[in-house]
Amino acid sequence: ATQNLFLLPGDGIGTEIMAEVQKLIDWLNANGKTDFATDTGLVGGCAYDKHGAAISEEDMAKALKADAVIFGAVGGPKWDNVPYEVRPEAGLLRLRKDLGLFANLRPAICYPALADASSLKRELVEGLDILIVRELTGGVYFGEPKEITDLGNGQKRAVDTQVYETYEIDRIARVAFDLAGTRSKKVHMADKKNVMKSGVLWSEVVASVAKDFPAIKYEHILADNAAMQLVRNPKQFDVMVTDNLFGDILSDAAAMLTGSLGMLPSASLGAPDAATGKRKALYEPVHGSAPDIAGKGIANPIAMIASFAMALRYSFNMIELADKLEAAIAGVLADGLRTGDIAQDGKKTVGTEEMGAAILAK
Ligand code: NAI
Ligand code: MG
Repeated sequence: ATQNLFLLPGDGIGTEIMAEVQKLIDWLNANGKTDFATDTGLVGGCAYDKHGAAISEEDMAKALKADAVIFGAVGGPKWDNVPYEVRPEAGLLRLRKDLGLFANLRPAICYPALADASSLKRELVEGLDILIVRELTGGVYFGEPKEITDLGNGQKRAVDTQVYETYEIDRIARVAFDLAGTRSKKVHMADKKNVMKSGVLWSEVVASVAKDFPAIKYEHILADNAAMQLVRNPKQFDVMVTDNLFGDILSDAAAMLTGSLGMLPSASLGAPDAATGKRKALYEPVHGSAPDIAGKGIANPIAMIASFAMALRYSFNMIELADKLEAAIAGVLADGLRTGDIAQDGKKTVGTEEMGAAILAK
């Protein structure tokens, strides 16, 4: 059956790196490897320019119908002063909310060819392959009350509220354990149960989910210790599941173990559909629209292409193709190909198209 991909390149380098994904899709289709139908929409600043909204209702409807959404990046100085509700990021937030994307998957993979670009010593990161699973729709980012009150005596009081219910923890934990089953079969869960009630509930619920996955090793870890261990001996981790705030911080820390922002993919998944079992999903690079290099043809397309590989893996179960695509990325890096952001002495620097073409050729 034909599978529908909805492409949202967005702004800045988003269009340049998405073009390389489109070439991959065209090649896969032309060679009978896939049967993707693609449609392309507008999100972010370009959608605001055309429709006055960060994403049009028509494109939202297409995103909801698609089997997977492939997202580039949004934003740029041109739109820094547009009204808050229609700022470029609002498009991404709307997509996350309406697609119900509660599970954010952030792999941190250290390619051997780039191990020297890590913030750690080569032997600590070579072969590193961590998957951080961050809860994306709950916790302190959304909990009420959330306010600043003027106390009238020159003092103010700020309140943020961390709220989690059992079902929210249960469903993200199940995503993490399912994923661990396809990897090295180990899950850590990071919280602060020593000082937070939400941590107590996370510990309870995740320990109970772990019982349903006897083949997977489960360990609790305090979030501060997790941060310490990530920069001390990161290879001890495989899958790490955690809440929205700790996930934001720990995934950024893990990311820098791998070298460059231009290398980092991500996936955001929703709940399985009751009838089909298929999850709504959006795949995007971690980086933004890089206005400083936009339009120059020098952006690194690897984070975008690796995000597409995650779509092959997680939305379409095309494991072999995903493995090949990831191996092709590792391969061109091993061959010495570098975009400017990952340039190393003595290695040839190539542009976006040349990097995309080299990966496709592999
Ligand atoms: P950024 O990620 O766009 O850029 C940070 C630095 O990394 C820049 O020097 C950029 O040139 C470089 N860089 C990023 N991706 C690269 C790639 N693929 N190849 C080579 N170099 C790359 O973050 P920044 O500068 O803070 O934000 C720029 C715009 O992007 C802002 O409007 C921001 O709001 C937006 N943004 C959007 C995101 C999204 O769409 N999910 C995420 C982060 C920022
Ligand atoms: Mg962050």
